[in-house]
Amino acid sequence: MKGVLLAGGTGSRLYPLTRITNKHLLPIYDKPMIAYGVEALVKSGITDIMVVTGGTHAGEFLRLLSNGHEYGVDRLSYAYQDSAGGIADALALAERFVDDDRVIVLLADNIFGYSIAPTIERFKEQKQGARIILAKVEEEEHLHHLGVPELSDDGKVTAIIEKPTEPPSTYCVTGAYCYDSSVFEIIKDLVPSARNELEITDVNNYFIKKGLMEYDIANGFWGDAGESIDAYYTVNDYVRKFGVNK
Ligand code: G1P
Repeated sequence: MKGVLLAGGTGSRLYPLTRITNKHLLPIYDKPMIAYGVEALVKSGITDIMVVTGGTHAGEFLRLLSNGHEYGVDRLSYAYQDSAGGIADALALAERFVDDDRVIVLLADNIFGYSIAPTIERFKEQKQGARIILAKVEEEEHLHHLGVPELSDDGKVTAIIEKPTEPPSTYCVTGAYCYDSSVFEIIKDLVPSARNELEITDVNNYFIKKGLMEYDIANGFWGDAGESIDAYYTVNDYVRKFGVNK
């Protein structure tokens, strides 16, 4: 099982902080944001990792993480995204790295307060397809900025709506996605969305339609530190007080 950490994008929601650095290098308490994603993967036994990034600050990741050994990474690879073409576009760069293996993809601005290892273990038991983590969101306002699952009465995800004006549930799709290698064929058929990105939600909806999507509910704190400056500070406050990836 491979790990892919996505650390690209323009970070426009955190301007002007992200004019001078990449969002995923901003501090979360006492470490740059991306260090938490590396830690989450390593603590789950994933030590063959690719970081996908882009933009003018890409070189800083090498300076911070170098070969990854200090962080417990066995083999650290890097890919460079030419333009901010979306999460699925970034993931496509990892095709040869993942090869015919399976992959856990983590958005490097997503911070989990608990270990995601059980999700990875359950995915290993799954014959094929995909697995996501849903988190309960108390304030509806956040749901407008996230992917939101529509759930049937028997608890199946029937669709995911990206940034809905009318959220179909009070859960969001977190940025932790497990896929088998068929994901790369799906990405090749995607068309850019209204925001001109290849959406990971379109990938997930494909697996849902095929009946190949499973999910877990977040088992503790989850935060998207890139959602807004307030969300960034909510995550900072939480990490400072309680620590994460435990
Ligand atoms: C992305 C996904 C969205 C998901 C979110 C989690 O949003 O598109 O479905 O809920 O990450 O952080 P983005 O950060 O690209 O707006």
